Amino acid sequence: MPDDTFDAEWLELREPVDHRSRAEVLLDPLRQHWGDRRWSRILDLGSGTGSNLRYLAPRLPGPQRWTLLDHDPSLLKQAHQSSRSILSTAVRVQPVVGRLETEGLERAAHVDLVTASALLDLVSEAWLRGLVSRCQSVSAGVLLALSYDGRIRWHGPPDPDDEWIQERVNEHQLRDKGTGAALGPRAGEVAADHLRRAGYRCTLVPSPWRLGPDDSALTRRLMEGWVEAVGELDPDDLPRARGWLERRRAGLDREGGDLEVGHVDLLALPPSTPFSRRAAP
Ligand SMILES: C[S@@+](CC[C@H](N)C(=O)[O-])C[C@H]1O[C@@H](n2cnc3c(N)ncnc32)[C@H](O)[C@@H]1O
Repeated sequence: MPDDTFDAEWLELREPVDHRSRAEVLLDPLRQHWGDRRWSRILDLGSGTGSNLRYLAPRLPGPQRWTLLDHDPSLLKQAHQSSRSILSTAVRVQPVVGRLETEGLERAAHVDLVTASALLDLVSEAWLRGLVSRCQSVSAGVLLALSYDGRIRWHGPPDPDDEWIQERVNEHQLRDKGTGAALGPRAGEVAADHLRRAGYRCTLVPSPWRLGPDDSALTRRLMEGWVEAVGELDPDDLPRARGWLERRRAGLDREGGDLEVGHVDLLALPPSTPFSRRAAP
């Protein structure tokens, strides 16, 4: 079992919010390219329990051959079971237990579209460079959804420690999550920059979580995770972070909570002539 695990309950809690937050404006250009190029092979990196598959497969036309790659075999097993309803002869799914750094990069050079959701902020710039060069070598498209962008905005009365918590969380985001120092909140911008320099046409759009009273279970888990992150940076900060959590929990009980957590979605489409076949200048 890998060290940096994500529990299935957390992934289940965030899935409906993730799906409603995704930037639908990216779907038309993706579908157009998918059809024109007769794409069918998709690699979902860090697939977890298959949320990205459940979002995207029903929105893409024609035959689809998905590879779900994750280092956590128990999440992959759930992905297969919980995605049965969308599986058909048109949509095939192969789960692969593997690491982003090895099997992930290898497989990126054998598909038409590389995708990931809620993953980009966890990876390092070195790993991202490797991914971009694999994708460029085969003119694969890239769709990276729901990368955290560092913004946490509370609506309603502020707490004196909101900003402090946000700063500590964003600092924690930069810690190594397995592929080297993580990109954290800059992930979307940095990826767009690398992909543009590799000749891709990039569209980067906001896909914020807008959390209201109906999402209080997710908000509570999120706040607990933030306090844990503060404690991992410096255990001496825990009492202050717990004080903030108590006050914010009381606010949730009273008013239901209303906050925005910034994310971005990035679609990168390769130039119309595949790189390998481009005429020399
Ligand atoms: C935040 S979760 C996102 C899961 C899923 N994409 C979603 O949207 O619900 C990140 C996923 O990446 C996987 N992961 C993290 N580091 C990894 C690595 N080095 N190699 C393979 N998978 C990794 C985790 O097991 C987890 O399933």
